[in-house]
Amino acid sequence: MPKLGVNIDHVATLREARKGFDPEPVLAALACEVAGADSIVVHLREDRRHIKDRDLCILKETVKTKLNLEMSIAQEIVGIACEVKPQQSTLVPEKRQELTTEGGLDVAGNFKQVKATVEKLKNSGITVNLFIDPQKEQIDASKKTGAQMIELHTGRYAGAKNKLQEDKYLQEIKAAVRHARQIGLIVNAGHGLNYNNTKRVAAIDGIEELNIGYSIICRAVMVGLERAVREMRALI
Ligand code: PXP
Repeated sequence: MPKLGVNIDHVATLREARKGFDPEPVLAALACEVAGADSIVVHLREDRRHIKDRDLCILKETVKTKLNLEMSIAQEIVGIACEVKPQQSTLVPEKRQELTTEGGLDVAGNFKQVKATVEKLKNSGITVNLFIDPQKEQIDASKKTGAQMIELHTGRYAGAKNKLQEDKYLQEIKAAVRHARQIGLIVNAGHGLNYNNTKRVAAIDGIEELNIGYSIICRAVMVGLERAVREMRALI
């Protein structure tokens, strides 16, 4: 059974809607851990659109499971990671305009830069996870960088328009897991996983951890709303 990493970026997205203090991502992280999350994931974006440097520092002090920092390979962010030292970093591609991480990191196409970043992070004692598309070329390049882990992008599987497509993309992920394990990589997966499509990925043999964010935060709003209204009604 894979472990579950919970991405809490969207708690910070909600906070930034009012630029105040609520909801507090650190408290959300604590709630996730109480409920059984195996790690807490946050993405410190270059534009700081949700998670801030302050969140990262407090999370490093308070997360008891494992803090997994999603990040680009920009020098500023790499410097912050080496200073804060989360237990794990996940290197992702980052574009200013995107709503979420759109594709995997092109490790093969940016090999020298990625390898240098992996070395820097590993020298700071941080385990490195590379977020890549489920393609042999990217898996082989990832292994050559010295990274210990990869995370397979499940976005195409999650976005499948019909069962036939879903089956095809699931097979792609399965083949990628098999190959990566054979060459000695730890394999994680994530992106777009929700309450309908996660079971089939969780059943793949050899996946260490699933990282899930958006669907869990959406579900939290829906299962919590009734109680929140009752509490306000009682108070009035
Ligand atoms: N894994 C990585 C590397 C990501 O960039 C994201 C999105 O931040 C996720 C997992 C979680 O994706 P989602 O929010 O769609 O569950």
